[in-house]
Amino acid sequence: MIILETAGLSRTVDNKILVTDISVKVERGEVVSIVGPSGAGKSSFLRLLNRLDEPTAGTVYLDGLDYKTIPPTQLRRQVGMVLQAPYLFPGTVSENLRFGPKQHGQVLEDSRLHRLLEQVGLPGYADREVTRLSGGEAQRVSLARTLANSPEVLLLDEPTSALDRHAEAEVESLLREIIATEQLTCLIITHNPAQALRFSNRSMRLEAGKLVKFGPVEEVVHV
Ligand SMILES: Nc1ncnc2c1ncn2[C@@H]1O[C@H](COP(=O)(O)OP(=O)(O)OP(=O)(O)O)[C@@H](O)[C@H]1O
Ligand SMILES: [Mg+2]
Repeated sequence: MIILETAGLSRTVDNKILVTDISVKVERGEVVSIVGPSGAGKSSFLRLLNRLDEPTAGTVYLDGLDYKTIPPTQLRRQVGMVLQAPYLFPGTVSENLRFGPKQHGQVLEDSRLHRLLEQVGLPGYADREVTRLSGGEAQRVSLARTLANSPEVLLLDEPTSALDRHAEAEVESLLREIIATEQLTCLIITHNPAQALRFSNRSMRLEAGKLVKFGPVEEVVHV
């Protein structure tokens, strides 16, 4: 079943083409990697998928529904994103995790909060100040924060590339475990061909804003 479909998705800013005419279909529960040279438009493409940026042409269908009919705040919970650098505000881990649900008038129950922290391998971290966390721990809190919204689709923009090698391996295995157990649909940008092979079955290659290849990961990335 197709959960996410882009139809002629494009974005041009001041005559500069960032993304042009990308049409792909992603199955529910599938992990797709996105590869290509720096400046190819990978991040720009991902940002269109949850409307952090607005397409200048084309659209996205989520469960067959044109995403322009979904209120952006709801869309961003359904399509969660984790970036290269952890996105947290000063305060405790629990304050960061509770912030999202609170904005929607919901309360993140203690039991759910502790389960999320366990899931990302940080049991007992609820009252820790985020400024005191290591890079890997902070990235895991970012992930927990995104998971707190129970997203249907998870967008990952080079989620391990800012970490040292040890933390990178830890966060990667954690991500893969969570994606597998939650059967999440996931799009992951990576510069690391071996990582693309470990995460995904299919891969899309972008060059100069265009989709130049989309197919089995072994045919798209070369280690
Ligand atoms: N708001 C913007 N206005 C104009 N140009 C932009 C804007 N955002 C990005 N760009 C340009 O669009 C191109 C694609 O950028 P993007 O960040 O999507 O590339 P990327 O494939 O993610 O690269 P990297 O691998 O380095 O992260 C780049 O040339 C970038 O400078
Ligand atoms: Mg990028």
